[in-house]
Amino acid sequence: MGKFYSVAIDGPAGAGKSTIAKALAKELGFHYVDTGAIYRTLGYFFNLIGIGPKDIDGITKYIDECVIEIEWDDEDGSQHMFLNEIDVSEEIRTPEISRIASTVSAHALVRERLLDMQRDVAKKHNVIMDGRDIGSVVLPRADVKFFLTASPEVRARRRFDELQAKGSKDSFEKVLKEVNDRDHADMTRAVAPLKQTKSHILVDTSDMTIEQVIAHMGSIVREKCKV
Ligand code: DC
Repeated sequence: MGKFYSVAIDGPAGAGKSTIAKALAKELGFHYVDTGAIYRTLGYFFNLIGIGPKDIDGITKYIDECVIEIEWDDEDGSQHMFLNEIDVSEEIRTPEISRIASTVSAHALVRERLLDMQRDVAKKHNVIMDGRDIGSVVLPRADVKFFLTASPEVRARRRFDELQAKGSKDSFEKVLKEVNDRDHADMTRAVAPLKQTKSHILVDTSDMTIEQVIAHMGSIVREKCKV
């Protein structure tokens, strides 16, 4: 079996990971894997069955009832999340599920259960995988690791614009607080916290256009992965 390349993109919420990873994957012909969507699907499941995100006993008891599958659209490469065979790709994108996913993802049991699912994809495809602990835990031997970030204000502004486009009435201050709260939770949790390792290449997108970021990262991937 030939070698498959893997590119890890870690960083805080709203840094542009998914936009950049999607575009890069398309350009390079890699599979884009959004690992946050897996945590969101699990969070959505527990919310649906009335188990709180901190209730580790409930989570332990019911986690096996949650069957998550990932499929990619052949036409546009987009990732779809299935929860017990139902497509929940849209439902998992609310601010409420963001908060729940962040809390659920802090449990060691949860992270452990989702590890193989993420690694299996990388065994079968060239991947660009985005998340928080891809370079540090999930794919420590990834060919290229990026740490993509931007200031909290820039990230909150991007999320605010995105939410407004969907008709949300939330204020900018509220969105900024959510960004800061989620950063704090993701960076201070005991298990697999968001962190930049020595092998991550730092890319601060605060003053860069999407095109500049893609060109910069694309040239690094091409150089290292010979694609
Ligand atoms: O990237 P996102 O906003 O869709 O992620 C939702 C939550 O899932 C985020 O707050 C932290 C968690 N997450 C994680 O712990 N590890 C990952 N690899 C990806 C996401």
